[in-house]
Amino acid sequence: MWPDLIRKAKDGGLDVIQTYVFWNGHEPVQGQYYFEDRYDLVKFIKLVQQAGLYVNLRIGPYVCAEWNFGGFPVWLKYVPGISFRTDNEPFKWAMQNFTQKIVGMMKSENLFQWQGGPIIISQIENEFGPLEWDQGAPAKAYAAWAAKMALDLDTGIPWIMCKEDDAPDPIINTWNGFYVDDFSPNKPYKPSMWTEVWTAWFTGFGGPVPYRPVEDVAFAIAQFIQKGGSYFNYYMYHGGTNFGRTAGGPFIATSYDYDAPIDEYGLLREPKWGHLKDLHKAIKFCEPALASGDPIRTSLGSNQESHVFRSDSGDCAAFLANYDTQHFIKVAFNGMHYDLPPWSVSILPDCKTTVFNTARVGVQTSLMKMDSVGEFSWVSYNEDTTSYDDNSFTADGLLEQINVTRDATDYLWYTTNFDIDEGEQFLQSGQYPVLTAMSAGHSLHVFINGQLAGTACGSLENPKLTYTGDVKLRSGSNKISLLSASVGLPNVGEHFETWNAGVLGPVTLNGLNEGRRDLTWQKWSYQIGLKGEDLKLHSLTGSSSVEWGQASQDQPLTWYKSLFNAPDGNEPLALDMNSMGKGQIWVNGQNVGRYWPGYKAFGTCNPCDYRGRYNETKCQTNCGEASQRWYHVPRSWLNPTGNLLVVLEESGGDPTGISLVKRSIGSACADVSEWQPSMRNWHTKDYERSRVHLHCSPGQKMTKIKFASFGTPNGVCGSFSEGNCHAHESYDPFEKNCIGQESCAVTINSDNFGGDPCPGTMKRIAVEAVCE
Ligand code: GAL
Repeated sequence: MWPDLIRKAKDGGLDVIQTYVFWNGHEPVQGQYYFEDRYDLVKFIKLVQQAGLYVNLRIGPYVCAEWNFGGFPVWLKYVPGISFRTDNEPFKWAMQNFTQKIVGMMKSENLFQWQGGPIIISQIENEFGPLEWDQGAPAKAYAAWAAKMALDLDTGIPWIMCKEDDAPDPIINTWNGFYVDDFSPNKPYKPSMWTEVWTAWFTGFGGPVPYRPVEDVAFAIAQFIQKGGSYFNYYMYHGGTNFGRTAGGPFIATSYDYDAPIDEYGLLREPKWGHLKDLHKAIKFCEPALASGDPIRTSLGSNQESHVFRSDSGDCAAFLANYDTQHFIKVAFNGMHYDLPPWSVSILPDCKTTVFNTARVGVQTSLMKMDSVGEFSWVSYNEDTTSYDDNSFTADGLLEQINVTRDATDYLWYTTNFDIDEGEQFLQSGQYPVLTAMSAGHSLHVFINGQLAGTACGSLENPKLTYTGDVKLRSGSNKISLLSASVGLPNVGEHFETWNAGVLGPVTLNGLNEGRRDLTWQKWSYQIGLKGEDLKLHSLTGSSSVEWGQASQDQPLTWYKSLFNAPDGNEPLALDMNSMGKGQIWVNGQNVGRYWPGYKAFGTCNPCDYRGRYNETKCQTNCGEASQRWYHVPRSWLNPTGNLLVVLEESGGDPTGISLVKRSIGSACADVSEWQPSMRNWHTKDYERSRVHLHCSPGQKMTKIKFASFGTPNGVCGSFSEGNCHAHESYDPFEKNCIGQESCAVTINSDNFGGDPCPGTMKRIAVEAVCE
């Protein structure tokens, strides 16, 4: 997907691609490096260069990023005497070793700018400043060491440290966030850089899906530029998918879509992508003035101001800001009047003409659809939960999970046996004892004598969980098996290498004749991972090593298998897993990721207005539904025929409900004012009236104009309606120019719609075209 993603980033007006470097991906085993396939860093950087873009290489190697363990390899935790991200010799040695390795690679491939390569900036550490506040001296010593270590690597390009106020010269401290309020670099001669413009926020299993209106993203960026900001990178511009078990946690979803301008599937998210492209263009029109000095700020009203940049050679660029969250405000500037929409910035590259306003979106809105292209016929294999083999062992008491699994798998079985006397009263009364099992996380299935008795899980806010439920015990010997599953290792926090997972106890039975029986300290046996994982049921060879049977529904711990052909076309593909509970998916042996539609999004999903300050819970969707329903299957993983799909379901679910879907544009909409600022002909100063541009996905055609109204229409894409003023021939130019086309344009001009329906009123055109 890389070349296409990079091209779309370039078309969107980006100059620099920023990427983290994932230590645990590149050094999965200490001293054994991996730079192939999705981890081919050099190839990625060369592709960016071929596209004519620069690179900001954020080596970290701590990266946070909602990535497993923040990018640290799990083996690092077991280096004797280690303590992460502090003044600790074993840690510093390992960090230096990896950083050196990456820098050395970049040098030998001639990838730094002075070598003719694209890398112009690199980052060491990530948002370490806040930890210094908490931890004091050892943290300060570590930060100073990290800075010096990086500088000594002699990369010949600037280093940055984000959220690190005391970054020593010549390292540049940079900002991350939704807005830039008071930030300025720690020395006046350092440029003001914003390394993470948060385009929205990540999704956790059990949480709603955040989004951020593009009007507010553009507003935040315009505000940064008007104050003299000189560099910004989106986080994320394309977030994609955390395939396999790379999602951090606990509870980070597999989708890392982030409401980014390029969506998880690599498609343009409109209007986000297009509106930011217009913003980038408008900023670049101001470049001669912007590059030549500091802005002059002038108040234009109680909540309005201008920022003006002038160069010696007479260039002038202005930004007019209205911070009022409710009202349009008319301001006087440079001898003219300007009507500023609420919560917006207008950009005037000649100090006269508004070419762009952050709140006036002129580009199309795309409503995406997920069309089913087929279901699967399944065979199944039930995980054998009764006997353990080689990798099982016993211990007295309960063991921490990651210490046992070393994160090679999500799963660890804890099993213990005990006797129930035939004199127990509950055997008569039927009032079964209650099992209580406390776990440090992240999810737990309880099996009593081989039968699933119940499930419990933690949450994004609190990974810990307590299982409580009656258990049907019998007289004689009984077996309790606890299947503990981790859902991504923490990627943020202090000393998260010390965080625990798994059943740490106590585990107790209540309601026996003796009252309460504590099982915590008795003999437990352990099995790392599932049998099916050992057998590699997800792979072509492994999957033929067992006998598969007829698929049965609602069986816990079942493996399902199916073969399928790649659907024709180029549309991105996903699996609709809505009928399933929790587990993992593999296609042709590649791990698509964890799925968990059984975990419904808990939270508040209010209608969201772009106006006013944004935070990550302001705009959310999916409340009450699966946090993540669709799972991206990259086309590049597929063969034309005979693709192997394997699904491991932990708790139940109905595999016949799984379907393969294609993602494409369902509707292309626009809602544009007749005086939408336009910059298309800025350079020739030949202003034209606004035009509406509509496009479907490549290969699609517009088959129907579902709605068109020139006048004062209401509503949003998908539910437009006519207002008081409506031109009778509103549909005509769209039907003429768009039907049967992949893309089309219509000029917003009364004559085109059969005459002015309400002279003297400011009109808009709203249109929805169906793409098929
Ligand atoms: C930042 C961090 C990123 C990412 C982001 C939240 O603070 O630097 O790596 O975790 O938060 O998505």
